[in-house]
Amino acid sequence: MTEAYAPGKVILVGEHAVVYGRPAVAIPVFQVRARATVEAGDAGQGIVVVAADLGRTFVAGRGEANPEVLPLEAAVLGVLHHLRLSLKHDLTITVSSTIPIARGLGSGAAVATAMVRALGLHFSARLSAEEVSQLVYEVERLHHGTPSGIDNTVIVYERPVYFVRGGDLETFPVGRTLQLVIADTGVASSTRTVVEWVRRAWERSTDEYEALFDDVGNISRAVRRAMEMGDEESVGRRMDENHRLLQDMGVSSPQLDTLIEAARRGGALGAKLSGAGRGGNMIALVPPERRGDVERALISEGAQSVIQTEIPASQNTPSRVASSIAP
Ligand code: PMV
Repeated sequence: MTEAYAPGKVILVGEHAVVYGRPAVAIPVFQVRARATVEAGDAGQGIVVVAADLGRTFVAGRGEANPEVLPLEAAVLGVLHHLRLSLKHDLTITVSSTIPIARGLGSGAAVATAMVRALGLHFSARLSAEEVSQLVYEVERLHHGTPSGIDNTVIVYERPVYFVRGGDLETFPVGRTLQLVIADTGVASSTRTVVEWVRRAWERSTDEYEALFDDVGNISRAVRRAMEMGDEESVGRRMDENHRLLQDMGVSSPQLDTLIEAARRGGALGAKLSGAGRGGNMIALVPPERRGDVERALISEGAQSVIQTEIPASQNTPSRVASSIAP
């Protein structure tokens, strides 16, 4: 049996604007993860995919997959095509995940990443991170409209990334460990729907949205610099500014705003929605000694679950990794 994992992610700053070519900063979240296993099956069974959390099982390539599991089928077909292999294999692929679905934590990209990695291992193919990222991007593109590519990038490379659509992936040193609290509104939100809504608003009010995206892009640049310098107050202030711009874009929600206010009252240095918005998760940057206060404030305001994570200080010198993902 082969087995592979992939973490979740949060976007620290820059969502939506990143679809329009502005930079964004995202980090992996290792407290949640997707897992895929591949094992030999019975003769003639074909490639059976068991989506354990969804309670669904289907045979890949036979038109059996319903919309919910089409991305899983696309991941299998994508890897086989990439490796020039036929569908004539008898395998059982089992997928499970602790990443909540449709909450901005990258569940789709993480599941696809775990599957691509596990299949690559099964066929003894040495898939590079670049190849895995590209394969996962194709799955995202089929099923999520016009993804920027940030989810597959941060999940595959498993480190904080400064991401510009169509550009090279950049990693950077982090001057001081940052503590984050992530809280779930409990409201599912379709990234595709929200991204399409923003697209229509941008078409109607192009100048206004371009100006908002420019401001967000400047925030992402400033946050990267502040992270490098270990200036957490500055990172927090920029997160607050970014949230105001996301409200102006029309992608926040009363539940998100309530949790964000609660986190600030509890002592967060900054807080914002993360991901597509309208539901899903918010994130708060917290001083270590206020983590408990912020968590209690979030739970008392109705957060469905709370995850604590950190962005570890690292001496990583800045590096660029060439990306072939089309702009
Ligand atoms: O997948 P989510 O919900 O984290 O949202 C992705 C972030 C967006 O910028 C809204 C879309 C994208 O493709 O970058």
